[in-house]
Amino acid sequence: MSELLRVEGLNVTYRTRGGLLPAARGVSLTLRKGEILGLVGESGSGKSTVLTALMRMLPRSARVAAGRVDFDGTDLLSLGDAPMRRLRGRRIGLIPQRPMTSLSPVTTVRKQLALLSGGVIDDVRAQRLLTDVGLGGLYDRLGDYPFQFSGGQLQRMLMAVAVLAHEPDLVLADEPTTTLDVTVQAQILRLLLDLRNRLGNSVIFVSHDLAVLSQVCDRVGVMYGGQLVEAAETRDLFTNPQHPYTRALLDAMPSRRARGERLRAIPGTVSGSQRLPGCPFAPRCDVATDLCAAEAPPPRPVAGSTVRCHHAGATS
Ligand SMILES: Nc1ncnc2c1ncn2[C@@H]1O[C@H](COP(=O)(O)OP(=O)(O)O)[C@@H](O)[C@H]1O
Ligand code: SF4
Ligand SMILES: [Mg+2]
Repeated sequence: MSELLRVEGLNVTYRTRGGLLPAARGVSLTLRKGEILGLVGESGSGKSTVLTALMRMLPRSARVAAGRVDFDGTDLLSLGDAPMRRLRGRRIGLIPQRPMTSLSPVTTVRKQLALLSGGVIDDVRAQRLLTDVGLGGLYDRLGDYPFQFSGGQLQRMLMAVAVLAHEPDLVLADEPTTTLDVTVQAQILRLLLDLRNRLGNSVIFVSHDLAVLSQVCDRVGVMYGGQLVEAAETRDLFTNPQHPYTRALLDAMPSRRARGERLRAIPGTVSGSQRLPGCPFAPRCDVATDLCAAEAPPPRPVAGSTVRCHHAGATS
């Protein structure tokens, strides 16, 4: 598979009342055509910051301090605003986290689908797209308002816009199933896979839930304290995790514990870890040494993973 996206050393800093906050630190990743890459990590680890930087939709308080984002031969960070606007929606689609709040409550769904798709969804097209996402029966209700549909139905409609209206090469999905119940979540994941198989688009899928990512992703990247601390093929990450934080996330998954065995929550919090001089996970890591607190580990290959840990390989 050829490469669609290459992110190199992405740094994003927010200006906050408490000073500068480095929310993405030296994030490097590649995405091949047709590949689904998952990004996982606790809330605050920098996942949305990375996606928003790729879309060039960061707030004014943010500064992209370094890094290169090559999208099919174009450097997205130096691209002018007008060509970037043309790219958004057409070549890069975004599936939002909360379908209900991404739509205006006072405008009909028909009008919003047309607007969101840049005018390409007329009534004829709408019927086909709705059928493609399993909602053919809703065509007669397009004059209704968002609150008259369920969260799952709205998410499917937004997926139709993000994935099918222009068939973009890259789809960014930021926790698209987090607010939905488990059954609807499973249907949305199947739909995402089905669309990828049909269209061959690439997806970056963000979630704080490893179980969700394991169902759809070819590869998974683990974020902590603004850094990508481990990236590997999904199977390798689950069977042979290299980073202590990845292992802790896996230990916290209910499906991986024996019946009756207690879940192991990870003590401590991710908050403030971005400002530490050494490894951001050091305060919570049970194999940390003096070196960990003093020096940030660079990414290196260990047993099929790319991992930022001084002691990876020695402890597993
Ligand atoms: N607009 C913003 N202004 C200041 N800080 C922000 C802003 N957005 C996010 N942050 C901070 O950046 C860090 C990463 O946030 P985010 O990228 O939203 O993480 P995630 O998506 O993994 O939950 C967090 O500490 C968060 O508080
Ligand atoms: S570098 Fe040290 S503190 Fe960080 S994850 Fe590895 S062992 Fe733990
Ligand atoms: Mg987020």
